[in-house]
Amino acid sequence: MTLSQPHGGKLVNRIDLNYDVTNLNKAIEIDKMALSDLELIANGAYSPINGFFGKEDYESVIHQMKLKDGNVWSIPITLPVSPIQSSDLKVGEKVKLTFEDEVYGVLELQEIYEPNKEVEAENVYKTTELAHPGVKKLFDRGSVYLGGPITLVKVPEKSQFESFYLSPIETRKAFENRGWKTVVGFQTRNPVHRAHEYIQKAALEIVDGLFLNPLVGETKSDDIPADVRMESYQVLLENYYPEDRVFLAVFPAAMRYAGPREAIFHAMVRKNYGCTHFIVGRDHAGVGDYYGTYDAQLIFRHFTDEELGITPLFFEHSFYCKKCEGMASTKTCPHGKEDRVILSGTKVREMLRNGETPPPEFSRNEVVQVLIRGMKVTV
Ligand code: ADX
Repeated sequence: MTLSQPHGGKLVNRIDLNYDVTNLNKAIEIDKMALSDLELIANGAYSPINGFFGKEDYESVIHQMKLKDGNVWSIPITLPVSPIQSSDLKVGEKVKLTFEDEVYGVLELQEIYEPNKEVEAENVYKTTELAHPGVKKLFDRGSVYLGGPITLVKVPEKSQFESFYLSPIETRKAFENRGWKTVVGFQTRNPVHRAHEYIQKAALEIVDGLFLNPLVGETKSDDIPADVRMESYQVLLENYYPEDRVFLAVFPAAMRYAGPREAIFHAMVRKNYGCTHFIVGRDHAGVGDYYGTYDAQLIFRHFTDEELGITPLFFEHSFYCKKCEGMASTKTCPHGKEDRVILSGTKVREMLRNGETPPPEFSRNEVVQVLIRGMKVTV
């Protein structure tokens, strides 16, 4: 076995730091989410996508979860702008993409189109309710989409943990240097609690390496900030994981909270980073009660193994069980709710904010100390 082939066959590279933008006079100011998408398209994390979606890819992904070329893709990667921003743009032009007035990219504008966001929300998020943070974001963004290939002309600065931003080329090299042939990817937007550790290590029993790949792009305001999480991951790895079996790097995308559809997207990206396997546990990328506990696992049935090109590893709800005296899951533990140490994310965040310590059966003490300290600073 070797590391997985990139999605679509080869890694996209749309980075040209010598690109001369001086003769381009049109510019569009993009938001944080588009900036992170721009970088991830350019460095190949979103291969085979080479730009922001045109209408055909957009429709195809929304309705069939496939790009127009047939490759599996579940989340539209779009560049929304306001009607005012788009009013003086013409198809065929090259447009600078700026963030806080700094030029980061160039778009070869091929299409300007108006999406039906109700349809997008219903298909991608399974709801049009604005209480859903992904849907809210979708409707808050511009009502006109620009499509076309991009070039990244300046790499966005990283204010923190810069050494953990790696491109797919770099992660693949890192895996190869460690001699790993099989690697399991783990997506998270949370601290790693005992349940996460349990499923990671269960997966690690059958592969060579674990790629801990926390999402650090935009998340909703009550999620634990990325810098606090990064410190907690490092403390945990130092104390409880063999150094030569784990690799930590960040995934700088925005969180969509699209549950099942996002699980597919997360898997495809990790395939590009070189993973052969990908963990999908309970309510992956979910929020509130919008998705069933295992919907993000069931969605993988829509595709063949060849279409996916990465093996999903499914885990049931895991927890510490007092009667089992160890970590277990609904698949392996015969005991009742009263024996299981289960805390909701909201409850844990509340405890941490109040300086209270969740039980060691729920979270390692080293991790908890980092979180309590971090939450005090950020709240
Ligand atoms: S998210 O990005 O998928 O929203 P989260 O940090 O909540 O991140 O979960 C990371 C991964 O662990 C997901 O695959 C999720 O399904 C899985 N997971 C989280 N908690 C549990 C649990 N108690 N039991 C089993 N799987 C879990």
